[in-house]
Amino acid sequence: MEAVRLLAAGELAALPTETVYGLGAAALNPLACAKIFEAKERPLSDPLIVHLPSSGWLEKLARPNELALRLAEKFWPGPLTIVLPRQPIVPDIVTAGQETVALRLSAHPAFQKVAEAFGQPIAAPSANRFGRISPTSAPHVLSELDGRIPLILDGGSCPHGIESTIVLIRGEGMEILRHGPVTAEELLQFGPVSPDRGDVSAPGAMKSHYAPRTPLVVSPFPTFASSGIGLLAWTGKGEGYGAVERLSRTQDLREAAANLYGAMRRLDEADLDLIVAEPVPETGLGVAIMDRLRKAAARE
Ligand code: TXA
Ligand code: MG
Repeated sequence: MEAVRLLAAGELAALPTETVYGLGAAALNPLACAKIFEAKERPLSDPLIVHLPSSGWLEKLARPNELALRLAEKFWPGPLTIVLPRQPIVPDIVTAGQETVALRLSAHPAFQKVAEAFGQPIAAPSANRFGRISPTSAPHVLSELDGRIPLILDGGSCPHGIESTIVLIRGEGMEILRHGPVTAEELLQFGPVSPDRGDVSAPGAMKSHYAPRTPLVVSPFPTFASSGIGLLAWTGKGEGYGAVERLSRTQDLREAAANLYGAMRRLDEADLDLIVAEPVPETGLGVAIMDRLRKAAARE
């Protein structure tokens, strides 16, 4: 497999996961990881998520407590990233010098195949340039990183379409650093979930992120339609807008999450002055979707 050969040689490979496409490099090879930061133009202060070939690697890279082991047992492989105290084997460039490491085990069959054949952990942030919308298809990766990386493994569209939930373990409790496909309600069954205290917050999850180039506002009753404005629709009809992207015809939040980034990209490419996004209900996956819309709207 070409992807495995590249990873073993310390090169990059863009790989599909069930959330978004990742830009992979051998996690235990600091030089290979440096190429990720270079290709993405990502600040070195922003740590990388490490994807394990199997859950047997959890204790080689981190020091999980009982709660972390139970979460891994329940949600792996799947869209949950767990932040834990690191083992010394994890390179500093991966953790940005922090004492914690973020771990996940992807359920995507193509990713799993590569990870198992490579047999080593793979560091993989989303395969977009820093601060931009995460790619949910191979053509999205190409439009972000063409000429900067040797390979994109095309696994079609990502089923979740939104980045993994990131949970920080604090003793018997949890803090959600980034909302995603695994919801707060699901995590609550394993222990108390408190709001992000902000002191260990995911450095990359800053306010302006996931941003299209076209200005975006979130507005509940979009009435000011014109040909220069695009609508990211939830319930609205979109008459009079220059372009309309509907997140889900049946108001299904899963479908909306899977369509979100592709729809934002298409509107961004439609040469509009403004994108108006209708809010979605903030329950279940809707929390993660609204989080991304607010970040796309933030301009700082
Ligand atoms: O679904 C996903 O998580 C995708 C796929 C490719 O796995 N990856 C992804 O990675 O979204 P990235 O780098 O785009 O976002 C990871 C976030 C960043 O905001 C980073 O700051 C945070 O995770 N992070 C990484 N390590 C951390 C740590 N030790 N403590 C707190 N936050 C961490
Ligand atoms: Mg990202």
